[in-house]
Amino acid sequence: MTRDVPAGVGRTALGVALVRAMESRRPDRLFHDPYAAAFLAAAPTVFDRDRRVIRTRFFDDHLLDVTEQGVRQVVLLAAGLDTRAYRLPWPAGVRLFEVDLAEVLDFKRRVLAKRAAVPRCDRRPVPADLCADWTVPLTGAGLRPDRPTAWLLEGLLIYLSAEETTHLLTSVGDLSVAGSRVAFEFEAADADTLRERAGRVPAIAEYVALWKGGLPDVPGWLAARGWLPEKHHWADVVTRYGRAAGPSRGGFVTATAPDPATAGRQAASGAELSGGPGPRGDPDAVADAELGLDVREVGLHGAG
Ligand SMILES: C[S@@+](CC[C@H](N)C(=O)[O-])C[C@H]1O[C@@H](n2cnc3c(N)ncnc32)[C@H](O)[C@@H]1O
Repeated sequence: MTRDVPAGVGRTALGVALVRAMESRRPDRLFHDPYAAAFLAAAPTVFDRDRRVIRTRFFDDHLLDVTEQGVRQVVLLAAGLDTRAYRLPWPAGVRLFEVDLAEVLDFKRRVLAKRAAVPRCDRRPVPADLCADWTVPLTGAGLRPDRPTAWLLEGLLIYLSAEETTHLLTSVGDLSVAGSRVAFEFEAADADTLRERAGRVPAIAEYVALWKGGLPDVPGWLAARGWLPEKHHWADVVTRYGRAAGPSRGGFVTATAPDPATAGRQAASGAELSGGPGPRGDPDAVADAELGLDVREVGLHGAG
């Protein structure tokens, strides 16, 4: 039987096409393959790769919306090599905290210093372990818990256990007044399914080994504590950005900390919006490896 898109070892050809398409976009490209992108566009599996592209844009827009509405504190929990502080047109007065491990932030500092990168907001790096007490360094760096904060947990929760996740989110709640926001992604599949898929891909074993499973229903957990979670489904978001949706892939959650006076009523309505699997494993990494890409060689993909 002929498939629409190559599977098995045949799928590795799409991985090579991806590399050729990426090289073809470079101004100093070593070759130009005008057809490589067409193969990718015709292969729904490759749409999975768009996940982190869409995710980046979705959270860009979310953070700009929230700050344009008046929130002036942004906290990137597990900021990694996120460069939003440098590339987004922040409104005046935004203070942005980047929390991550010291070695990650140090690497980032060295690379960006060589490029003379200049932040477009009041950027404050906060080296800390999110599984230890990161709140003291964060408030020490200037976070004001009496003012609304936009929290972003992008590509993080799969690396935490359920207990670590609830501990982290409890701290986020403790530091959040009404009007604060928290945003993260969620997966359509449950952790066991993702692990089972990932287990078939030796190239990403080192990333899968770091997965701790996360919390099954983060939106529900937040709703039960008064937050107002809203789900943004993958197909809707992708369509809004003019890209092909591909298979259903979960989506994104933005949640608002309500006014305490109305928390009870809002928690009830928030619960209706929640449910289903929470942030889990990284099927993007699975897709990368299925395409025959070595994530370390290509160097574009973290597993999260
Ligand atoms: C997949 S990356 C995502 C980075 C960034 N949010 C992004 O989307 O570009 C995961 C990040 O989580 C950070 N991380 C994981 N566990 C952490 C912990 N316990 N404390 C601090 N950072 C942690 C890693 O250092 C890494 O930068």
